[in-house]
Amino acid sequence: MPEGRRRRVVLLPGDGIGPDVVAEAAHVLQDVARRAAIPIELEEHAVGGVALERFREPLPEATLAAARAADAVLLGAVGTPRHDALPRDKRPERALLGLRRGLGVFANLRPVRLHPAIAAASPLRSDIVRGTDLLIVRELTGGLYFGTPRGIEGEGAARRARNTLSYTAGEIERIARVAFEAARARRKRVTSVDKANILETSQLWRDVVSETARVYPDVALDHLYVDNAAMQLLARPRDFDVILTENLFGDILSDEAAMLAGGIGMLPSASLGEGPGLYEPVHGSAPDLAGRDAANPLGAILSAAMLLRHSLGLPGEAERVEAAVGQVLQEGARTADLARGDEKAITTRAMGQKVREALERVPVEGRVR
Ligand code: IPM
Ligand code: MG
Repeated sequence: MPEGRRRRVVLLPGDGIGPDVVAEAAHVLQDVARRAAIPIELEEHAVGGVALERFREPLPEATLAAARAADAVLLGAVGTPRHDALPRDKRPERALLGLRRGLGVFANLRPVRLHPAIAAASPLRSDIVRGTDLLIVRELTGGLYFGTPRGIEGEGAARRARNTLSYTAGEIERIARVAFEAARARRKRVTSVDKANILETSQLWRDVVSETARVYPDVALDHLYVDNAAMQLLARPRDFDVILTENLFGDILSDEAAMLAGGIGMLPSASLGEGPGLYEPVHGSAPDLAGRDAANPLGAILSAAMLLRHSLGLPGEAERVEAAVGQVLQEGARTADLARGDEKAITTRAMGQKVREALERVPVEGRVR
């Protein structure tokens, strides 16, 4: 991507703490743009409960069109208790699925890295979680989330609900390739997670992943059943490098893995396909914390770093942001979710401010400013 070209990033703050954390991530993007003299244009649109109130749609046409036309999309969170009773196609969560589908982002990358300074924030023993550095590659536009037929039919005791789990070999191969490529840039190990002892979709999954592995002889592959994977993640997290799995298993395992990295507030994600990437913190809307300046913005800021790397072609800037986050944690900055013992909690804005100050001190391409 040419250096000087104007990059367009669509911001979708959404619901709950979404606006609080996206504001901090947006400030970081603006600082990066200013210092690197790269024009990054930020444009905000409505999504989720906010969009439901204003436009009666969780994902208005204009929002999806803007997202499609952008270089990247940074989303806060969707979901509000107020809308929980609405029918499925009006719920704020629909917006997320509509965006994933609409942008064709089939590959969801969720890096889980424990910063040593916050090992105590994990509910697991430090000697177990220390050194955790893994990447979950979750298939995002297939499986039970999107399979048809689906629905609820009938009356009384005969009322029946149904969802469809189906994957094509093509869908499996393209996500497997993403995992193997990612492993090449890391510790060269892929663990594919399935339920091949029971499910046909998993049998095909295992076959196709094994075939794809032949193209990557430098990467080691092993397979785990999902129940065992859930256990091994807690027993020996350091042994995992890249975890490759289907949509629902990835949803569940990534929340579990968040606990290895000091909590879900720390986790960023990138969802990639052919077009613009979709970036979001994994934590969700946390309505009880909304507007209280108390949420952890680091998941969103680290998502912005992934956006710089994967969609704007600025890996150096991404590393600077990640280094700045590492520095503030090292220096003891903690939002309420990370504070333990007598550690003092700071606000969302104060955390964002500290990251930006640290960013000023991180050298640009080897130069200390
Ligand atoms: C996630 C979330 C979403 C999912 C929900 C909000 C639809 O849990 O991104 O992990 O299940 O994919
Ligand atoms: Mg989830």
